[in-house]
Amino acid sequence: MKITVFNGSPKGKRSNTHIVVQSFLEGAAAAGAEVENVFLSKHEIKHCRGCLHCWIKTPGKCIIKDDMAGLIEKFLASDIACLATPLYIDNISGMTKVFLDRLCAVVDPHFVMGADGETQHVKNPRRMPEIMVISTCGYPERSQFQVLELLFRRTERNMNSRLVAEIYRSQGNLLGIENEMLAPVVDAYKKLVVKAGRELVENGGFTDETIAALDKDLVPRDMYNDGANRYWDSQLAKLKKKENT
Ligand SMILES: Cc1cc2nc3c(=O)[nH]c(=O)nc-3n(C[C@H](O)[C@H](O)[C@H](O)COP(=O)(O)O)c2cc1C
Repeated sequence: MKITVFNGSPKGKRSNTHIVVQSFLEGAAAAGAEVENVFLSKHEIKHCRGCLHCWIKTPGKCIIKDDMAGLIEKFLASDIACLATPLYIDNISGMTKVFLDRLCAVVDPHFVMGADGETQHVKNPRRMPEIMVISTCGYPERSQFQVLELLFRRTERNMNSRLVAEIYRSQGNLLGIENEMLAPVVDAYKKLVVKAGRELVENGGFTDETIAALDKDLVPRDMYNDGANRYWDSQLAKLKKKENT
């Protein structure tokens, strides 16, 4: 099984999202998957022009000359394509959205009425990878991801794929902090994500127990908010001091 992560954080290797991705891929690789990690920030991916050449002039191929052709090859060669993104204004990052738009090239343009009475694209005879999501956000609640949950259910349908797993990590800013009190909490979470990676490869999905554990807060929400506000205040105080010297 080949799993490719497409990380759409502009922070690349330094991203909170990458911390979750690393543990996930560690578990998936230990269970025998071939894994690859792609940082979209390292690639040139221009905006979709909406010309539809990829549907009616050069089917399956985008006319824009940039890195997307190679990334589409990687996407199609995967059994599972994992879209990894920070939550930006309740949504996927702009970089992830541009990547998704450009994936239109792999969709068959024809319309068909779905069994549920809603129109969708005809299933492309070409093999489509299953999709999964890893996302981190700055607010403390799991509910902050509701737009992403809906978006990826819609994407699953639109691309005639299957959404096989979702990891949504609220309080994501804790992951990169080096702190004695937090270390055991973050370590326990990373171990859980390693287990999730194994489960996906071995069982085709996460167990209910793992899903429930993944969704748990890392620290109490009021404590998280107090810590966040102390951090903002300290940074702003530093700035003020600098401005006054
Ligand atoms: C432009 C921008 C918008 C953001 N919007 C949200 C948001 O709507 N909700 C939220 O909980 N966090 C938001 N955040 C915080 C990030 O989601 C959070 O820090 C995340 O862990 C960053 O992931 P990364 O390090 O992988 O890029 C935002 C951050 C930025 C820079």
